[in-house]
Amino acid sequence: MTKRVAILISGGGSNMIKLVESMVGEHPARAVLVGSNDPQAGGLKKAAEMGIDTFAVDHRPFKGDREAFETELQAHLDAAKPDIVCLAGFMRVLTENFVRKWDGKMLNIHPSLLPKYKGLHTHQRALDAGDTEAGCSVHLVTAALDDGPILGQARVRVEPGDTADTLAARVLVQEHKLYPAVLERFAGGSTDPIILG
Ligand code: GRF
Repeated sequence: MTKRVAILISGGGSNMIKLVESMVGEHPARAVLVGSNDPQAGGLKKAAEMGIDTFAVDHRPFKGDREAFETELQAHLDAAKPDIVCLAGFMRVLTENFVRKWDGKMLNIHPSLLPKYKGLHTHQRALDAGDTEAGCSVHLVTAALDDGPILGQARVRVEPGDTADTLAARVLVQEHKLYPAVLERFAGGSTDPIILG
């Protein structure tokens, strides 16, 4: 049975595009919905151009009431009945209650070699620490932020003169390879980790 995938974004959606483009042919899943907490997110227009249903629930009017925001988010997801939810540059922290509803079915991509550098500004923190390598991780989403079981990682060497931006750009190239590879394996029923680079 082909798995139904919903993707949540907050920005341009470059990871979302790679995921959608990868779900063709023999792939065990298909994208059925792309949603965002920002109605102006550039990725929504791109998803619509690729023929995917889209929605937006603006988090700002909820003034920090995450449960109320998530109730609306959940309603859109329930209507599409996804088997898997992919967070791809989705920048809202989800409550434990919401995460529990999608236990074992929600993935996230994070731009660091977890468990290092959970949260924000991952590349600057790697540079400040003098790390010789950085990277990205795809993990199952649990209640603790950026903490769930790791399904894949890609390593990138830190180059002399790197800034957070130059490092982020090289890591993003790896994200675009790692996330589709992990999703294909996960949708096929395996949680064996994938290690790139
Ligand atoms: C990516 O680097 C992702 O790891 C992080 O946010 C960025 C989103 O990029 N969470 P995009 O919206 O997929 O282009």
